[in-house]
Amino acid sequence: MDIRRSPDSQVLAANAAAYIAERINDSVAASGFCRLALAGGKTPEATYVRLREMKINWQQVEVWFGDERCLPVGDPERNDTMARQALLDHVPIPKDQIHPIPAELGALEAAGIYSKLLNHKPPLDLILLGLGEDGHTASIFPGQEIIEASSAAVAIFDAPKPPPERVSLSLTYIRDAGERIILAAGSGKQDALRRIQTGERLPAAIVGKAIWFVDEAAISN
Ligand code: 6PG
Repeated sequence: MDIRRSPDSQVLAANAAAYIAERINDSVAASGFCRLALAGGKTPEATYVRLREMKINWQQVEVWFGDERCLPVGDPERNDTMARQALLDHVPIPKDQIHPIPAELGALEAAGIYSKLLNHKPPLDLILLGLGEDGHTASIFPGQEIIEASSAAVAIFDAPKPPPERVSLSLTYIRDAGERIILAAGSGKQDALRRIQTGERLPAAIVGKAIWFVDEAAISN
């Protein structure tokens, strides 16, 4: 595993933001564009705040989401609400280059709409992901039969992490991306990280090759 360790969550955010900015710029330099999926949850917030200050040509960036909770638009618990407050409302990215998951329509309808949108485009260049305490990533939880779904986005109805209804990029689609970056901070992630390091095939372990940015608190002694 390619694990990049930081002493604490703030240094992790700075290191991850610097690397993400570099990869966005590499993608823009190579193909004129970067198609990026953002992670949800709380961990990425500090990284997103740091990304505001990075030298990125946001006009050439398209933003998608790794997963979304089925809550009303603007709900503070939605992943796109956090991403807008931490980053997207602070950078000059054209509004039509931000593609929220329409999870307010319900998981089934939203997954169908998002899959259609994604299927008409090349794979994403870069996907940011988090790590759940049970080893989930995006909204792919351990033991879920949809884990090998072929569509780009999948509907989740029984997520153990509330809310139960969500939409997630599928494992297949995440694996097809150019690169994956997983952010994990805090002692709550120790168990999941150790299980993954010792070979347990938890969802975050089987997304394909990934670069892990972790802080010391997430590393078990
Ligand atoms: C979500 C996220 C989820 C998250 C992990 C870690 O909707 O909750 O997509 O996959 O990344 O649960 O969450 P924290 O960063 O808050 O620990």
